[in-house]
Amino acid sequence: MNKHVLVTGAGSGIGLEVSKKLLADGYTPLLVGRSLEKLEAASKQLKNALYLSCDLSTPLAFEEIKEFIADVSDLNLVGLVNNAGAIEYSSFEDADFKNFDFHFKTNVMSAIYCTKASLNELKKTKGSIVNISSTLGLKPIENTSGYSVSKSAMNCLTQSLALELSHYKIRVNAVCPGIVNTPIHKETQSQLENWSDTLKDAQPLGRVGEPKDVASAVNFFISESSSWATGTLLPIDGGILLNG
Ligand SMILES: NC(=O)c1ccc[n+]([C@@H]2O[C@H](COP(=O)([O-])OP(=O)(O)OC[C@H]3O[C@@H](n4cnc5c(N)ncnc54)[C@H](OP(=O)(O)O)[C@@H]3O)[C@@H](O)[C@H]2O)c1
Repeated sequence: MNKHVLVTGAGSGIGLEVSKKLLADGYTPLLVGRSLEKLEAASKQLKNALYLSCDLSTPLAFEEIKEFIADVSDLNLVGLVNNAGAIEYSSFEDADFKNFDFHFKTNVMSAIYCTKASLNELKKTKGSIVNISSTLGLKPIENTSGYSVSKSAMNCLTQSLALELSHYKIRVNAVCPGIVNTPIHKETQSQLENWSDTLKDAQPLGRVGEPKDVASAVNFFISESSSWATGTLLPIDGGILLNG
């Protein structure tokens, strides 16, 4: 029997790597993202995995996800990885209200729509939800208030759901990556001044993360190996939280 896992933001970066690892571990990833081109390319790398292109920052996503999973034959949804997200750097003073709204809709509401849309199926399997948060949701840095607040909210969402969904034996955990080498990371490099010095000084383990570093932790939480873990906010960050 298939073991389906819905992965959002699956067309690139961490989401794509999570999907690859899930496939390698015997799961069947269901891919959700925005760019059709990226999803088509990802699907080809993932044994023609099923995919849905939709904007997860709007309430329409709730119905679209529900329809997408309802159409999967022999659906056996054992997991959901809420990974889609984005960052726009700005000081608090320069950030307009749209900046906060954008981060909340993209990083938090997207996870709420996907979780609500998947819930009935996850109840059937006593499934596992993994939210991709950030170390910035645990300890912010300057010029990230919109993003950091959204990831902090995601941490709280993780623990609120862990409590409520424990009644169905659904587990909910978050992985909080530090700086990971993905398209977002490349964007970061062009936006932060003195980036290379900042990067070098901040990394106790001497390197930024790779998507694989995060995918291992995500798959641990999806798998039965973590069957007694819920409400965990796990930093995978090369030790960056130990600095400063
Ligand atoms: N890389 C890091 O340093 C780092 C650190 C901590 C946390 N994170 C978190 O890790 C997650 C994955 O990011 P990444 O680093 O892998 O960067 P990424 O490659 O840019 O991945 C972000 C994904 O989210 C999707 N997405 C964004 N907005 C969306 C929307 N409105 N609807 C549907 N999909 C949307 C993007 O799809 P499209 O490209 O098709 O728009 C993209 O596939 C994010 O939640 C991010 O906050 C990353």
